[in-house]
Amino acid sequence: MSFTKGPVILTTVFCLLSGALGQDDWGVTYSSTSICGLKGSFVDILCTYSYPSVTQITETFWHINWSPNTPTDLSLDSRYQGRVEYLGNKVNNCTLRIKNLTEGDVEEKYRFRFITDGPKDSWSGDEVSLTLTDLHITVSPESVKEGEKVTLTCNSICSLSNNPTYIWYRNSQPHKHTADNRLAKDSVSAEDAGRYSCSVQGHAIHSSPEMSLSVRCK
Ligand SMILES: *[C@@H]1O[C@H](CO)[C@@H](O)[C@H](O)[C@H]1NC(C)=O
Ligand SMILES: *[C@@H]1O[C@H](CO)[C@@H](O)[C@H](O)[C@H]1NC(C)=O
Repeated sequence: MSFTKGPVILTTVFCLLSGALGQDDWGVTYSSTSICGLKGSFVDILCTYSYPSVTQITETFWHINWSPNTPTDLSLDSRYQGRVEYLGNKVNNCTLRIKNLTEGDVEEKYRFRFITDGPKDSWSGDEVSLTLTDLHITVSPESVKEGEKVTLTCNSICSLSNNPTYIWYRNSQPHKHTADNRLAKDSVSAEDAGRYSCSVQGHAIHSSPEMSLSVRCK
């Protein structure tokens, strides 16, 4: 592995990005093209778009496929009716929220499209794919004595989008917020024992099952 290549590659990527997002260019940029959401909850696909400044936007929508020959607005698809909310605008923000996420939602690819009054009259962004996960806690090490260190991890099969804050509960009471998915205790005491669960801020009802932490005496 060569570490010296890192900065060179970064510079190249940066130039490509700033070129693609120039003021007079057409483009759609997503926070990520693979979005990870909690089953049953919602996800926001953060999105911005750009076009030549002389252009007027006439229509904006998200779509999943091209058939029969023109892409149609996702919010008119019976499987998504009432579950998609356009949080963007007709200027530069094309953020989409998909609610009550179901397994079927991961089989589609999502694209933002805008239509203008200009000569080159429409544009669709790249595809965004979706993965769904549940949360579950693992405790490491599995067994601890008073004074030892223990780490609880709130696991998901994909890395949840938009850097959420994690919320921890002990015996069903809110216990702590963490910036990542780990709750570390450097020196456990008997009072730390209990049933733990975790969730993500804004999605509290979709929490993990409870996991017991037991602390043995020294
Ligand atoms: C676009 O709108 C979403 C939803 O309102 C917001 O969270 C996001 O920060 C906005 N993005 C930009 C670049 O303004
Ligand atoms: C959709 O989600 C909302 C809020 O999470 C919930 O109150 C509602 O019952 C859900 N609807 C369905 C049909 O699952």
